[in-house]
Amino acid sequence: MNDTYPWPVFEADTVLPASVYDRIVPHAETPEALLAKGRTITARIQQVTPEDRLPGHKQPYYLRADRSERYLVAGTVVNVLARAADSGDMFEMATVTGGKGAGQPVHRHAQTHVALYLLDGEAELWLDGERFVMKKGDFASVPEGSEHGFRFCAHRTKMMVWYAGTEALAAIRALGEPTDCHVQPDDAEVAWDRERMAAAERAGDIAFADEMFPELPARAITRATLPEDTVPYTLAADEGRKFVGGPEYFALLASQENTGGKFFVVMSQGPESEMIPRHYHNLHTENFFCVDGALDMIVNRSRVTLSPGDFASVPAGAIHAYRMACPFTRFMGFLTPGLFQNFFETLGESGYEANVYPREPHQLRFDRVLKELESLDLVVIEEQMRELEAAEAERA
Ligand SMILES: [Fe+2]
Repeated sequence: MNDTYPWPVFEADTVLPASVYDRIVPHAETPEALLAKGRTITARIQQVTPEDRLPGHKQPYYLRADRSERYLVAGTVVNVLARAADSGDMFEMATVTGGKGAGQPVHRHAQTHVALYLLDGEAELWLDGERFVMKKGDFASVPEGSEHGFRFCAHRTKMMVWYAGTEALAAIRALGEPTDCHVQPDDAEVAWDRERMAAAERAGDIAFADEMFPELPARAITRATLPEDTVPYTLAADEGRKFVGGPEYFALLASQENTGGKFFVVMSQGPESEMIPRHYHNLHTENFFCVDGALDMIVNRSRVTLSPGDFASVPAGAIHAYRMACPFTRFMGFLTPGLFQNFFETLGESGYEANVYPREPHQLRFDRVLKELESLDLVVIEEQMRELEAAEAERA
């Protein structure tokens, strides 16, 4: 261990079965090479004190709502939550805020799987030749190559956009200008310029359709279950594949089965709760976005409380834990790659029927988690952290 580190490093010591790597890592590195690299990265990442800004490379950070790097794009404000550089070339993420009539014309990304979640207001959604009315809480999954677009139909609308790719944000940025605005300016112009659209196509992974917002019959989003394959789909608010574990209820909005293993999206909700045990992951990045209530988080040796609209990114290696800090807290998790999905099925019970967290906490199957630890990409270090803190307190 490098003795300039201010505190001990808990090294990655979990060896996952090769089949797990085969599923999630579509390149030629051997599991041994990956693991060796993982140890080095873990050592560095666990020293980082997260700050409220985009870091420019892969390390833990958080962002207060609507205060990140922003672009004014045809009457919307695009607030960047993650660039390719901040995620180690794994993903990009943004919120898009705007008023009635603003949006993004129909387009597709050749190499980027997109997920959309409507945080506020109402929108029309074009997806794969269909048109939907998207209400607050509705979700859409858009695999590579699928046509999609949206247009806001309420005066205050906000869309979460997740890009499992690294080239989409460059295209979106080329469509607009950097801005100091936090919401769309009162004189915002909702106009689409074909020249800029062509520039965006040259700048990144985007190709616009000939018709921007085709007239099609619009229908409500009512789908309640997830498809088993990587196909475009919509999902109605508060639906998905549901699990209950302890006081919390989890709904998968996208699963690794329908994202080609690239990521999954999970909405967690619960009452005020205890901090879960501190842990880290060797392989996957977890992104937390607070939707309702408040989420207390520990990231490495810092504490940060996320309010609605706030975001935290926790890459592989970073120590973390959370507790729900309000009687009704809800947060979205974007986890990539998707291998950690099995955790929810192992810790909780599947087939939960209700649409709200349970009145009485259900059982947490830590026994099952402990048995599956090696394949779950989970290193629990609560005990080691307590020992470390006790030793520090004694010295002080
Ligand atoms: Fe975690």
